[in-house]
Amino acid sequence: MSVTSKPFVTDAIGQLGGNAVRLLHIDTSIKTTGSLSREMSAAAVERLKREAPDIAVHYRDLAAHPLGDLTERVFAAHAKGADIGDLDPAELSDLAESGKVLAEFLTSEVIVMGVAFYNFTVPSSLKAWIDRICVAGKTFSYSASGVIGLARGKRVIVLLARGGIYGEGSPNGRNEHAETYLRSVFSVIGIDNLEVIVAEGVDISPELRAAALESAMGSIETLAA
Ligand SMILES: Cc1cc2nc3c(=O)[nH]c(=O)nc-3n(C[C@H](O)[C@H](O)[C@H](O)COP(=O)(O)O)c2cc1C
Repeated sequence: MSVTSKPFVTDAIGQLGGNAVRLLHIDTSIKTTGSLSREMSAAAVERLKREAPDIAVHYRDLAAHPLGDLTERVFAAHAKGADIGDLDPAELSDLAESGKVLAEFLTSEVIVMGVAFYNFTVPSSLKAWIDRICVAGKTFSYSASGVIGLARGKRVIVLLARGGIYGEGSPNGRNEHAETYLRSVFSVIGIDNLEVIVAEGVDISPELRAAALESAMGSIETLAA
């Protein structure tokens, strides 16, 4: 996998310079070779860069650098945006990383996510990332009429690789909790128009894998810039 990463400042919201569109590229597969979601997400980034070469890409590999499960004390500090006073060094480091994750998300206009389908849903590393970006007052707020999404206007492209077949109408369709989950959770923070490209049945046979990848790559090619 080749991924070019043009780092941008991520430790404080609003410190990014320049007018280039900022793209956050995330991967989640535990596979370091032969991962279809990684191959597809890299292809999607390359596709967008072809149209907008000065796009600023920041890469985060959640499998290589997992965030870990959110704890009560780090959650409290992260939600407040500051040290709550008695965090130990490990918690402080988690808090700092959580802040970076949130800032990367908030300051990116486009998010491209390679998602591996594990046990009917997203990898736990992605769930841990989602736990850092869903923050009241930052990406959503409560109102008398319900939750209001504050992250509107971002473009989120999901490249999902599933070993079996879960598409609409298939016998296993009711066990699909990755695309459905991502649509729900991003909708809560104001992003309703998730673009999802799926390669499925990829572990059933080499023929199905090749056909699924070819079809997904065709869809990636048609992504609007
Ligand atoms: C831990 C683990 C759990 C998986 N669970 C499922 C599953 O529930 N359903 C399925 O169809 N495929 C499952 N698979 C297969 C993956 O969805 C498939 O290999 C996919 O290509 C993974 O993405 P990747 O190629 O980017 O690694 C699982 C694979 C792993 C490693």
